[in-house]
Amino acid sequence: MFLFVTVYALYSCSGILAQSCSPIVQYTNLTINGNTISNVAGNFSDCCQYCQQKSNCVAYSWYNGTCILKSSAQPLYKAVGYLTAVLSPNSNNTYSLQTSYNGSTFFNNFTFISYTDPSGGDVNYTTQAQAQSLGLVQVLAGGQVYIGVDNTTIVPLNATRGRAAVRIQSKPIYNSGLFIFNLAHMPEGLGTWPAFWSYANPWPYNGEIDILEAIYTMPNNQISLHTSQNCTMPSNPGYINGAWGTKTTDCFTNYTAGISGCSIEAPNGTFGSAFNQAGGGVFAMEWDRFNFIRIWNFVQPNIPSDIASGSPNPNPSTWGLPNAYFPFGQNCSATHFNNQTLVINTDLCGSWVGSKFPGGASNCSTFVRSNPQYYSNAYYLINSLNVYCKPNDPYCVL
Ligand SMILES: *[C@@H]1O[C@H](CO)[C@@H](O)[C@H](O)[C@H]1NC(C)=O
Ligand SMILES: *[C@@H]1O[C@H](CO)[C@@H](O)[C@H](O)[C@H]1NC(C)=O
Ligand SMILES: *[C@@H]1O[C@H](CO)[C@@H](O)[C@H](O)[C@H]1NC(C)=O
Ligand SMILES: *[C@@H]1O[C@H](CO)[C@@H](O)[C@H](O)[C@H]1NC(C)=O
Ligand SMILES: *[C@@H]1O[C@H](CO)[C@@H](O)[C@H](O)[C@H]1NC(C)=O
Ligand SMILES: *[C@@H]1O[C@H](CO)[C@@H](O)[C@H](O)[C@H]1NC(C)=O
Ligand SMILES: *[C@@H]1O[C@H](CO)[C@@H](O)[C@H](O)[C@H]1NC(C)=O
Ligand SMILES: *[C@@H]1O[C@H](CO)[C@@H](O)[C@H](O)[C@H]1NC(C)=O
Ligand SMILES: *[C@@H]1O[C@H](CO)[C@@H](O)[C@H](O)[C@H]1NC(C)=O
Ligand SMILES: *[C@@H]1O[C@H](CO)[C@@H](O)[C@H](O)[C@H]1NC(C)=O
Ligand SMILES: *[C@@H]1O[C@H](CO)[C@@H](O)[C@H](O)[C@H]1NC(C)=O
Ligand SMILES: *[C@@H]1O[C@H](CO)[C@@H](O)[C@H](O)[C@H]1NC(C)=O
Repeated sequence: MFLFVTVYALYSCSGILAQSCSPIVQYTNLTINGNTISNVAGNFSDCCQYCQQKSNCVAYSWYNGTCILKSSAQPLYKAVGYLTAVLSPNSNNTYSLQTSYNGSTFFNNFTFISYTDPSGGDVNYTTQAQAQSLGLVQVLAGGQVYIGVDNTTIVPLNATRGRAAVRIQSKPIYNSGLFIFNLAHMPEGLGTWPAFWSYANPWPYNGEIDILEAIYTMPNNQISLHTSQNCTMPSNPGYINGAWGTKTTDCFTNYTAGISGCSIEAPNGTFGSAFNQAGGGVFAMEWDRFNFIRIWNFVQPNIPSDIASGSPNPNPSTWGLPNAYFPFGQNCSATHFNNQTLVINTDLCGSWVGSKFPGGASNCSTFVRSNPQYYSNAYYLINSLNVYCKPNDPYCVL
């Protein structure tokens, strides 16, 4: 077997066996912006070998008789008529599992916060012991993790806090990596504001990345960054399967001054009841320490095969155009994001929800506190949360 593999590799390097070179993924109407090594005249089927013959070639595009050899598999960019393909990555560029938060050990690497909601919602975040005794957190027989909201208590209007809920924060701290949050259900219901996100103090100097966040009225996820000054993203829609819409591309955030950061709207169906009716999906973030953050939202049944099969080495370069692409460089240095703690929470009411809830935030609080029966669907059902690192990456996890 070893001999066979060796001979095969020799032949494919010398280009004798044309059919031996095959990419791991192929895209239509996408190219890779920049990162060009050289152009070679050829048919698309020839490009693979031309790429293999260059030591730094990892991917290629093809257009109108020209192979465009690439030193990076990203950023993907919409371009009608282009074909793009990616070669199998070398071991240095292959992610492998670092932390798996799942099943009976899911909560071991999380802390429950039980202080007043720092985001200004009307919830009573509980300790792990309180959450367990109220049935707000459970590990189901099949290993799925349930995180809900109290759906039995009428909370007095004069109580200092609102409905009991959960906010958990990871003990490990990250500075790069691939994060895959796989869920069968997300919280929905009047006044809900769920999120899967990361942040670090001092805020916003060490940044915040909102991977999944929206409020109960919205049909789509909203992906946001919150930073200190001098972090602006390209508004070009060619990089994303999503829309900047009316949102700013300047990620600087100062809520006191009414400046709320940069946000991309993912497509409809990536949030709330439509997401749940589809059977859930996956929110994935790739954070390349010095180069970019990319985020994908997948809804069942459109989950990439490496995620669906539980591959220990998922490859985001096979997932197609991301929903969000946030490059680092002159317009946003990578130092805007450090030491991120992962957070999963279900918030209720607060100012964002109050801007949509009839009668505003105080009416929202009155309604939510008085009507526990509306919160039976305000739960996460988590299949897994996995974090993957590249080999020898000193930044991935602290
Ligand atoms: C592309 O393929 C066609 C048909 O097989 C062939 O005639 C042509 O020479 C090829 N072009 C290049 C640049 O290899
Ligand atoms: C394709 O390339 C040929 C020359 O090789 C050129 O004449 C033609 O304009 C090109 N077509 C497009 C759409 O770029
Ligand atoms: C590529 O884009 C063209 C022009 O918009 C379209 O006709 C074609 O269907 C697209 N191909 C694919 C596979 O999406
Ligand atoms: C991986 O990185 C190490 C250290 O930078 C380097 O020595 C090695 O050649 C690389 N391996 C491959 C397959 O590129
Ligand atoms: C994560 O949990 C595992 C066992 O569940 C434990 O060995 C490890 O120390 C934990 N890591 C942190 C950072 O708490
Ligand atoms: C809330 O109101 C009830 C009934 O008026 C009263 O008994 C209770 O002490 C009040 N609680 C708080 C926290 O003010
Ligand atoms: C929060 O919920 C817990 C558990 O039900 C309860 O013991 C506690 O009194 C509540 N705190 C407030 C401030 O309402
Ligand atoms: C942001 O950039 C401007 C212009 O380059 C510079 O004057 C300012 O000091 C920078 N602010 C921060 C907080 O780095
Ligand atoms: C935020 O805005 C407020 C009000 O304009 C201002 O007082 C404060 O200094 C700003 N903070 C930062 C970090 O820019
Ligand atoms: C998304 O849903 C909203 C609200 O239901 C609707 O107004 C909008 O047209 C939809 N957008 C697309 C692209 O379907
Ligand atoms: C990140 O955390 C490490 C370890 O606690 C600390 O040494 C470092 O200063 C932190 N970085 C930033 C930018 O806060
Ligand atoms: C509360 O919600 C759970 C599911 O999230 C459901 O099984 C349970 O029946 C609900 N309780 C009530 C009293 O509605």
